[in-house]
Amino acid sequence: MNPTAQNDEEKLTRAVLARIVEAPDPRVRETLQALVRHLHAFVREVRPTEAEWMTAIDFLTRTGQMCDERRQEFILLSDTLGVSMLVDQINHGRGGASTETTVLGPFYVANPPLCANGDDIARGLPGDALFVEGHVRDSGGAPLADAIVDVWQSDDQGRYDLQFDDPDALFLRGRFRTDGEGRYAFWTIMPRSYPIPTDGPAGALLGAAGRHPFRPAHVHFRIEAAGCEPLVTHVFVAGDDYLGSDVVFGVKESLIAEFERRERTQPLAGAAIDRPHRYLRYDFTLAAAKDSVEAPA
Ligand code: BEZ
Ligand code: FE
Repeated sequence: MNPTAQNDEEKLTRAVLARIVEAPDPRVRETLQALVRHLHAFVREVRPTEAEWMTAIDFLTRTGQMCDERRQEFILLSDTLGVSMLVDQINHGRGGASTETTVLGPFYVANPPLCANGDDIARGLPGDALFVEGHVRDSGGAPLADAIVDVWQSDDQGRYDLQFDDPDALFLRGRFRTDGEGRYAFWTIMPRSYPIPTDGPAGALLGAAGRHPFRPAHVHFRIEAAGCEPLVTHVFVAGDDYLGSDVVFGVKESLIAEFERRERTQPLAGAAIDRPHRYLRYDFTLAAAKDSVEAPA
């Protein structure tokens, strides 16, 4: 490129940055400055034609138009571009004894029905019966009573209730309260690996990139307890074909578990189970709430 044209391009970037220097909130200021620097650098590198730039605007417009209470195309975009996991790593990096985190995903619904420990969230759906139980503890190993364990998952065809046309469809989700010993337990069915929705712009982008849309089978958990950071995570089924290529980059080794085939189980609480079933034992450890960490003396 000739030096005058390059100078003009950089001058424009500096002019835009100069308009932001007086943004009153310093966090807004630094964020906007970084956005302008990186966005301009991206455009200078890619050098789109005007038609290509309109295609990008149209892509984002369609992404927004696809969003409503049951469909979150921007989350899908963030997830499939690895940005959700980058934000996760920045905020919950390694270190400490707490359970590792992963993406929330677009199928979380706040406040599903409160269930009793031992209830079945499959509510009669077909599939391989799965019993899940474990403890919730704090980072010092003490059991957390009254923690809220929110669970959601796909059915045996890899579909979530939110993906059904019926707005009242509600299955494979529920909230449990840990007992006095920090135990939770529920019945469900085996989840299955599934393609994330591909009928929108995020799916089109995957296709253009030559990527598959699958997530390995998993059960989602969101756990809250007084004095602790809420934990958002999944437990993945060991042996799944997609563990090495999750479309949203969400798999961490510590979150892969055996969903054992069993004939009999003596649960942590209650009567023995004497019929064939799958069994998952998973214990969670919650980090102390950031504002509850004692200040150094
Ligand atoms: C999910 O696990 O539910 C999910 C996460 C990210 C994108 C799509 C689905
Ligand atoms: Fe999921």
